Amino acid sequence: FDAVDIIRAKRDGGVLSEAQINWVIDAYTHGVVADEQMSALAMAIFLRGMNRQEIAHWTAAMIASGERMDFGSLPRPTSDKHSTGGVGDKITLPLAPLVAAFDVAVPQLSGRGLGHTGGTLDKLESIPGWQAEISNEKIMEMLGTGPGAVICAAGAGLAPADKKLYALRDITSTVDCVPLIASSIMSKKIAEGTGSLVLDVKVGSGAFMKDLEQARELAQTMVDLGKDAGVHTVALLTDMSTPLGKTVGNALEVRESLEVLAGGGPSDVVELTLALAREMLAGAGRPDEDVEAALKDGRAMDRWRQMISDQGGDPDAPLPVAPETHTVTADADGYVHTMDALAVGVASWRLGAGRARKEDPVQAVAGIELHVKPGDQVKRGEPIMTLHTETPERFERALETLENAVTLDTVAPNLASSVILGRL
Ligand code: URA
Repeated sequence: FDAVDIIRAKRDGGVLSEAQINWVIDAYTHGVVADEQMSALAMAIFLRGMNRQEIAHWTAAMIASGERMDFGSLPRPTSDKHSTGGVGDKITLPLAPLVAAFDVAVPQLSGRGLGHTGGTLDKLESIPGWQAEISNEKIMEMLGTGPGAVICAAGAGLAPADKKLYALRDITSTVDCVPLIASSIMSKKIAEGTGSLVLDVKVGSGAFMKDLEQARELAQTMVDLGKDAGVHTVALLTDMSTPLGKTVGNALEVRESLEVLAGGGPSDVVELTLALAREMLAGAGRPDEDVEAALKDGRAMDRWRQMISDQGGDPDAPLPVAPETHTVTADADGYVHTMDALAVGVASWRLGAGRARKEDPVQAVAGIELHVKPGDQVKRGEPIMTLHTETPERFERALETLENAVTLDTVAPNLASSVILGRL
């Protein structure tokens, strides 16, 4: 095969064969196909698309580029969740220990944030001592006889073709493409070896998919890929037009997750945590468990404490707090109508919660605390949100981003009653 022929075929709207796909992914992983050739192919796929068969072959080839984990020897069934990425999406933190409280193992092999969406590992690293990198033996021990949940960095061995390709897509504007997102996510989850998978596909300004129809297509593509690979897979479509909960940023989101694990927390975070927990348990053959009780009576919190200390973290250590804050207040009386997830995500990123390049550090303390959410009533001069950072020179650009993020009106908005917009 030849890379130029394959690029031309896709550029002209052709269908790639299984053999062509296997060759190009393998050759790219080993450096035989160059970055500039793969960039051109990714753009051709972005513009021309791939059919279901091509997506399945592409996903299988990315899985075959690396190792596969095998949880078959564990005494507990496995169930995992993946979110396509959002703003204030800390759900994994309370969810993994909650599901583990029912003796279903949760292998959360996670990533770091890039752009305006936060990364689970970045959030947990704000806990003093906590380590994201652990060995496969430690993962098996935590899942088998330990807390039953592990949230850690995915090893370099899982779907290395995706690691290379994702970094390339990020700098060539080829990320937001259904075939490429679906194959990227599902290759990692299938290689990870989970028995059951629940996908949280985000819809709205803060998500890759801006409308419901696009999100449904992405969800259906991933559900089909999962089922074909023998993984019990369901998807929820959930709202990402407004940030989830009342905090965005690393340590701030850990603090809110602890409120949920203590039986409190914002209603949207609790609703989504409970819904995803029920799906994960049902997928592992445990429907009808009283998940709410495990948040209220401390069983989920016990698993959290064990999970954090098993990875070197101190669950009792105080979380770091920002030395600099700036509060934005309402300029009129009224009801909050909208609070744009993308603007809040970008502002939090600019305050230091996220990174511009893969190797950049993030601030544990940076982020945004929301005092009100859509539907709440405010009076002129009352606080709307507080910005947190170590570096006050960042306030100006963050505030620029937030200029039109919040809209107020004199009449109450008509809001959806649930963050869950669909299921498939
Ligand atoms: N998350 C991934 O892992 N891959 C994508 O392509 C998009 C989001």
